[in-house]
Amino acid sequence: MIKINAAVDQIELSGIRQFDEWVSKIDGVSKLTLGEPNFVTPQHIMDATKRALDQGQTHYEASAGNPELRRATAEYYNEKFELNYRASNVLVTVGATEAIATALKTITAPGDYVLIPVPCYPAYLPLMALQGVKPIFMDTRATNFRVTAALIEETLGQNKDKSIVGFIFNYPTNPTGISYDCAELSAIKDILKMNGIWVMSDEIYCELTYDQPHISMASLYPEGTILIMGLSKSHAMTGWRIGFVLAEERLITAMKKVHQYHVTTAATLSQVAALEAVTNGKQDSVSMRDIYQTRRDRLVTLLKKIGYNLIKPDGTFYLFVQVPEKLKVTSVEFCRKLAIQEKVAVIPGSAFTEFGEGYFRVSFAASDEQLEKVVIALKNIGH
Ligand SMILES: Cc1ncc(COP(=O)(O)O)c(C=O)c1O
Repeated sequence: MIKINAAVDQIELSGIRQFDEWVSKIDGVSKLTLGEPNFVTPQHIMDATKRALDQGQTHYEASAGNPELRRATAEYYNEKFELNYRASNVLVTVGATEAIATALKTITAPGDYVLIPVPCYPAYLPLMALQGVKPIFMDTRATNFRVTAALIEETLGQNKDKSIVGFIFNYPTNPTGISYDCAELSAIKDILKMNGIWVMSDEIYCELTYDQPHISMASLYPEGTILIMGLSKSHAMTGWRIGFVLAEERLITAMKKVHQYHVTTAATLSQVAALEAVTNGKQDSVSMRDIYQTRRDRLVTLLKKIGYNLIKPDGTFYLFVQVPEKLKVTSVEFCRKLAIQEKVAVIPGSAFTEFGEGYFRVSFAASDEQLEKVVIALKNIGH
């Protein structure tokens, strides 16, 4: 019998995807499960891609990405977030997912420890496990799901015997929607810098912030930041699979090797679409963000009115809502019952590590009818 690598045997398929697959079997279920914008990619991006296809642009692209796309991507993020990148600081990847995998593979080694605030987007953990890297969880429940410089300092103090090399940061945060202001980020930067710790900053929701401008970690700590970006959320381009790593040229050169041997390059037509997005689609996210904001405000008001505890998200299109304590059920039990009884699907908080237990995540990247339905369903089940 062919043996499977024990490290692969030990990781699990994504809890989000597993739950989504389970609920998809329920007839007529309304899904507010995946982080999938319910908009189609802007028309001008699709038109540019169609033209490229008609011209026969069907060949391999340069490994690190189309040179013009790398240049335009640097400019795009420089303009939006006061950064200082050039084409050579950009790697074009197959979604932010491959950006994260390639970055982790390039800058960590078996036995390294990295700090990670929890609950968190779960994909980081299996990638770390495959690499033999160990997470040190920072429980953010006591600080309203916010990571603070004090929490990092305390965690470092408790783990002096371990070789902590990095900090995995994601904001606006999936699943809580938390984001940070300049003072908070500066304090975090100070403690990381003082301890020689790099930050892999996954800012894929940077254009979906509502009440405050997004400040990139890379603007505060350029030498220590590996910035993860992508077009999946900002341009409703999940299916095109385009992400980016932005970092020091030395790191990008090293990452290019890992990327090349895994995927050669991102798909050529998707890179054409990405170039159109970052050149002529600089404002594409604005109208989508405004719609998400209206939905957020409505949903927050309605759910609070029917007695749910939640944190108003600063960004993303997720609400992280507490399972009513009086029901005395786990988040999985709650979500299963909601799906079977009310035909509405949301993701159990435990999919975001055990620190998300007691909560569920609602994606409001969904139609108004779906949002009406989730409020009625939660009202029915919560009482
Ligand atoms: C925090 C975070 N990072 C990365 C990704 C992956 O994005 P992509 O579809 O570009 O691979 C997601 C997707 O939901 C996410 O929520």
